[in-house]
Amino acid sequence: MLRSRLCVFDAYGTLFDVAGAAREAAQEPGRAALKEHWPRLSELWRRKQLEYTWIRAVTGVHVDFWDVTCDALDYAMETLGLDDRDLRLRLRELYLKLPPYPEVESMLRRLKEAEHKTAILSNGSPDMLGGALRASGLTGLFDKVISVEEAGVFKPARAVYDLVGAHFGVESPGEVLFVSSNYWDAASATAYGFHTMWVNRDGAPADRIPREPRHVAKSLAAVPAIAATL
Ligand code: LAC
Repeated sequence: MLRSRLCVFDAYGTLFDVAGAAREAAQEPGRAALKEHWPRLSELWRRKQLEYTWIRAVTGVHVDFWDVTCDALDYAMETLGLDDRDLRLRLRELYLKLPPYPEVESMLRRLKEAEHKTAILSNGSPDMLGGALRASGLTGLFDKVISVEEAGVFKPARAVYDLVGAHFGVESPGEVLFVSSNYWDAASATAYGFHTMWVNRDGAPADRIPREPRHVAKSLAAVPAIAATL
């Protein structure tokens, strides 16, 4: 019988489409300003969100991912001159139920059919991750949902990747396939010793940072075949 393999997923941008909140709000009535700006808003919101996580990790002044997400939204809205309390609340609400990418459910079902273990390892707070999973109906397809809140620091601190071993008791990090759409997350996981895959949906260039993801694919549909080679 095959040894059970462990596939660990980043959440935001990997399983869940972070552009979904601004895109959906822009389609609602009375959102003329957002209709024009939503792609830029979404991009800036995400970039600032990540930047703030790194600054907090380096300075040791931790707050949870929800606070960082709201701070980044405020920055992005102010940059674009979107002074709208109702919109701010709506975007925050939509961020708690981001849509999963279309192939996520079928990919997870294939992993389960092959008797792989599955987990999330995310910056997201437990409440955020629980909400997103409930809204998308994916809860039952993960063996564990691990939040960086258990380590009190954001990725790519090694203490975060340590949580996988702490939860699953893996003998060597090379037994784990770690999947992220964030190049820096996948590369840092390679440095940690995980087997890694970068999901590069938009044909982005590689970041100029140490180490690199072991595999690159355009979507998550490639995960089961890579997991089978572990
Ligand atoms: C996460 C961020 C990095 O889910 O996307 O951890």
